Amino acid sequence: MDSVTRPELFDFHGISMTHYFTDNWENIQNFQARSDDILIATYPKAGTTWISYILDLLYFGQTSPERQTSLPIYNRVPFLEIAIPGLDSGKDLADKLPTTPRLIKTHLPVQLVPKSFWEHNCRIVYVARNAKDNMVSFFHFDRMNGVQPEAGDWIDYFLRFLKGKMVFGSWYDHVNGWWKKKQTYSNLHYMFYEDLIEDTGREIDKVCSFLGLSPSAEEKKNITSQVQFDNMKNNKMANYSTLQVLDFKICPFMRKGKVGDWKNHFTVGQSEYFDEDYKNRMKDPTLQFRTEI
Ligand code: PPS
Repeated sequence: MDSVTRPELFDFHGISMTHYFTDNWENIQNFQARSDDILIATYPKAGTTWISYILDLLYFGQTSPERQTSLPIYNRVPFLEIAIPGLDSGKDLADKLPTTPRLIKTHLPVQLVPKSFWEHNCRIVYVARNAKDNMVSFFHFDRMNGVQPEAGDWIDYFLRFLKGKMVFGSWYDHVNGWWKKKQTYSNLHYMFYEDLIEDTGREIDKVCSFLGLSPSAEEKKNITSQVQFDNMKNNKMANYSTLQVLDFKICPFMRKGKVGDWKNHFTVGQSEYFDEDYKNRMKDPTLQFRTEI
């Protein structure tokens, strides 16, 4: 862990990446999925931990309650492509998962997902978040995460985000790429962070219906309560406070958990500039995001 330093971005198959996500590339691409694996796919900071925790509770909350107090979420739902010296790689953790199904996290753009997931027709849950809040959340994460490139100041970060010079590439390409995939791959459930905020119970119902799960009303009520922001923020197994590379003195991982926090960061000029650029790039009228609810 001592040798861990902030990395530089470089171009990798047309996507900005850092070596922490490419060092283990061959093993990642050769990952052997199983047909009952569930892949949780997101652009970073779109609500990955939230949906991971929901799925973990749905599948294992009743049968293995000890998981809730003994295993941090990043060990229950391994991050497939991560390879940080001194820590188990995500691929090794995924291989060693004892659960059925295995819940596996990825931030890869759709075209870089290991082919085995497609060959086995695995179910995939994708969560997307509006670009403005996503950008703000990513900015604060990059400030506090010692294995991310330096965030720099907000103005530069804003421009870098628009250019797609972020780890895992362009938000625009990511959300559109996965949206397009949904049109041809029926085992993909595409969700929105804003919908989860608006009505967590409703979104849990939808994901249950996709996964063929039917929790009791009481179980659902319990899960909905356990995954509320404040409960996750105060839960050491869900809030990432056990991960040394994150500096909570700079910012907590569970930061605000809101829709519309971008208004506290974007100037009026930045918002107008962003909106104009957005119109030119987000041409698919069927993919709509809400920046406030
Ligand atoms: S990561 O590092 O990519 O896995 O991060 P990810 O989990 O995708 O995103 C972190 C943001 O999600 C917020 N979050 C939540 N919001 C509302 N309710 C719940 N339960 C919840 N859990 C996580 C988290 O606070 C980060 O968003 P910001 O805007 O920074 O607060």
